[in-house]
Amino acid sequence: MAKIISYKSLVNVHNTAIGRLDVGAADIARKAKPGQFVALMARENGERIPLTIVENDEARGIITLIFQEAGLTTSLLGKLKSGDSLYSIVGPLGHATEIKNFGKVIIVGGGVGLAEILPVARAMKDAGNHVTTIIGARNKDILILEEELKAASSELYVTTDDGSYKRKGFTTDVLTELLNKEKYDLVYAVGPIPMMKRVALVTKGYGVKTIVSLNALMVDATGMCGCCRVTVGGELKFSCVDGPEFEAHAVDWEELEKRNRIYAGKEKHICKLNQ
Ligand SMILES: Cc1cc2nc3c(=O)[nH]c(=O)nc-3n(C[C@H](O)[C@H](O)[C@H](O)COP(=O)(O)OP(=O)(O)OC[C@H]3O[C@@H](n4cnc5c(N)ncnc54)[C@H](O)[C@@H]3O)c2cc1C
Ligand code: FES
Repeated sequence: MAKIISYKSLVNVHNTAIGRLDVGAADIARKAKPGQFVALMARENGERIPLTIVENDEARGIITLIFQEAGLTTSLLGKLKSGDSLYSIVGPLGHATEIKNFGKVIIVGGGVGLAEILPVARAMKDAGNHVTTIIGARNKDILILEEELKAASSELYVTTDDGSYKRKGFTTDVLTELLNKEKYDLVYAVGPIPMMKRVALVTKGYGVKTIVSLNALMVDATGMCGCCRVTVGGELKFSCVDGPEFEAHAVDWEELEKRNRIYAGKEKHICKLNQ
């Protein structure tokens, strides 16, 4: 059991709901590093889902999770209130991001991936990197964490698909322009698979090392079930224990896209049963 300290709705428009949960989890708060995640169960008869640790307050023993309501478990999380409990939480899981002074780093985030890039942007800047962050959302209303990411970056670019805020277009449009102008040492990206796949395609042409955090489907998240397998550089990897970060140019993106759709029909059925 883990106590909910607070829940805050960040976005609730156009069928998109994103919330922030502060959870009492002192052991996880003490050990968590950027890039790591937890696996949690909202209730006893439920599935475990992975969520990135966005912040960890070691002194107060609190971790922050930011999630988009995608299906059953995340919609249960969206109903929690201060004083409620999660049935279980385990972490920190996965390898931490490699943080060092690379030099000039571009960080790209899309959708709820903006929550996942925040701890990495902060740590990269603290390590002395020049951090250029490019963030994107479908429209202005669902863009999150702009101020926090601005503070965590040396410079920030914002795109919206529909042009409702800042620049109209995709994060990869800005990425291409920046790479055309000067040399960068690392690109780090988290977001929807089509975005990360496109980032990989763009940066490959410029020979820039690129790291992505994959959102492969996970069940146990401890390397036992094989559900999160991905092919990287022709080798079989388990995203939960070997990742979740991998070298973007080596990922078999088509296989990942196909595997992430496997349970879509069944999940819709379960969601209806629980309504
Ligand atoms: C390492 C890791 C870290 C993650 N961190 C975050 C985070 O910080 N915030 C956040 O909002 N989400 C994060 N995700 C995605 C999150 O785990 C899924 O959105 C969640 O499992 C959906 O569960 P559900 O029961 O609500 O929806 P389901 O009904 O299980 O799924 C609804 C739909 O969501 C999509 N989905 C399901 N599982 C995943 C998945 N693992 N990744 C992407 N899409 C999925 C599918 O299209 C599915 O049809 C992360 C995933 C991984 C692997
Ligand atoms: S989720 Fe089971 S092996 Fe990774």
